[in-house]
Amino acid sequence: MSQASDRSAGWAAYYQQLRDRPPRRTLVKALDLFGEAPADPLAVDLGCGDGRDVVELLRRGWRVVAVDSEPEALRQLAARNLPGAERITPIAARLEEVPMPLGVRLVNSSFAMPLCEPEAFRTLWQRVLEALPPGGRFSGQWYGDRDSWRGRPGMTFVTRDEARTLLDGLDVEMFEEEEADGVTPRGNPKHWHIFHVVARKPG
Ligand SMILES: C[S@@+](CC[C@H](N)C(=O)[O-])C[C@H]1O[C@@H](n2cnc3c(N)ncnc32)[C@H](O)[C@@H]1O
Repeated sequence: MSQASDRSAGWAAYYQQLRDRPPRRTLVKALDLFGEAPADPLAVDLGCGDGRDVVELLRRGWRVVAVDSEPEALRQLAARNLPGAERITPIAARLEEVPMPLGVRLVNSSFAMPLCEPEAFRTLWQRVLEALPPGGRFSGQWYGDRDSWRGRPGMTFVTRDEARTLLDGLDVEMFEEEEADGVTPRGNPKHWHIFHVVARKPG
């Protein structure tokens, strides 16, 4: 099996395993903070997987550009046949490369944004900041520098100070640092070091 098909099979098993989990609390917090959804609200979900968070965005009336580099993720998202699915625009692309949709109010990236090289991560973050209008929000996770996956190629890890610096100029509405020994959804032991972030562009 090639490395790429190994990776796809790994993600397919991950989607299967986490299929019925509730939306991420970072997303729920961001949506709660919007209160009543803005008129014709548009979100982009970067690394959406099979749609754990898309379900909640649709339920609350949002349109969603759902981006994932794994075609299997988007296949499984479509197979959910969600109410409001006509409000999903699926895009099979790498999050480093996909343009931010015009008019986006919320950029959500749950456990996906660190899955790119540090330079691409920083460029992507700049693009997120530029794309968000005043009052727009980001929700998602970044990996910390004590995470046991640190050093894996193609991933980005940030110190607490770096994470705080990335948030300079934003209203930080959630910044929770989680550090614990645990297991991955695939059952492998892992030291988790995660920043859970919700932030709003002022204005
Ligand atoms: C850990 S899963 C998270 C899925 C979902 N957001 C959730 O919270 O359950 C990461 C997802 O990001 C996708 N992914 C990984 N690297 C990516 C990249 N560079 N560009 C786009 N998607 C990527 C994977 O295919 C996978 O579906």
